[in-house]
Amino acid sequence: MSEKVDTGVPGLDDLIDGGFPRDRVILIVGGPGTGKTILCGQFLYQGIIKNQENGVFVSLDESKEHFYSEMQQFGWDFKKIEEERKFAYVDATRMSRVAMLKEELYKEESRSLRGKQLSIDQLVEDLQVKISGIKAKRVVVDTLAALNYRFQDPIQRRTANVDLIESLADLGVTSLVTTELEHLSLERDALEEEFLVHGVIMMQTLFSGATTTRAIQVEKMRGAKANPSLVPYSIGQNGVEVFPNMPLFGKR
Ligand SMILES: Nc1ncnc2c1ncn2[C@@H]1O[C@H](COP(=O)(O)OP(=O)(O)OP(=O)(O)O)[C@@H](O)[C@H]1O
Ligand SMILES: [Mg+2]
Repeated sequence: MSEKVDTGVPGLDDLIDGGFPRDRVILIVGGPGTGKTILCGQFLYQGIIKNQENGVFVSLDESKEHFYSEMQQFGWDFKKIEEERKFAYVDATRMSRVAMLKEELYKEESRSLRGKQLSIDQLVEDLQVKISGIKAKRVVVDTLAALNYRFQDPIQRRTANVDLIESLADLGVTSLVTTELEHLSLERDALEEEFLVHGVIMMQTLFSGATTTRAIQVEKMRGAKANPSLVPYSIGQNGVEVFPNMPLFGKR
């Protein structure tokens, strides 16, 4: 069985047989506002503070200032760990939708597949430099969804996703990659990224009458005795917490 990496999220390790599998790629799937970015920040921050495993955050849709101030709400001082050279932030927002729209307005040539492909290779290269610079063991890419806006053609999009996920798998780090679900249903089709990764965790908001509940589920975790139940989680002042033994609705 593979070595485990603490998730940094109370209750989550219990669902996945002790932690994320080391050096693998895990996909965090969820709708808007489900806490994907917070969970990923928590994984990196706790990894540094508790496990002495340095981390790199690659953002495709948020500025560094925004990310740092969001994380500060939970007492996670990313500026400090960056200064201590335990953490590095890669601003890849140029790959985002807004950047793409600007490029389309001003630079026709950037539409070519070659141009786009180069930008993924460049991203992986930047990431490698950061990883070796601080000897990082953990990486987050937030969010693939931003990349998907850029590659609207399904084949180009698949190539970009495969390239990025395969590159991450070769970097010798444990990676979390987030992506979005446009709509949720019990019989949804699996996203193509889900077949490429080692594990898939789904975060969602459920509605029952006037009550809403946040629910998390391990959809896949190769090589682990994962608990496949849909269980509640919360976002509070310490970040994300999972409750593997609580009912989804009703009294807590
Ligand atoms: N201090 C806090 N206490 C409790 N809940 C919070 C706190 N800060 C943010 N939240 C909740 O966390 C959610 C946002 O988390 P996060 O940004 O990680 O979501 P996300 O899934 O990354 O969203 P997006 O798809 O927009 O990127 C919101 O629903 C917000 O209500
Ligand atoms: Mg987010």
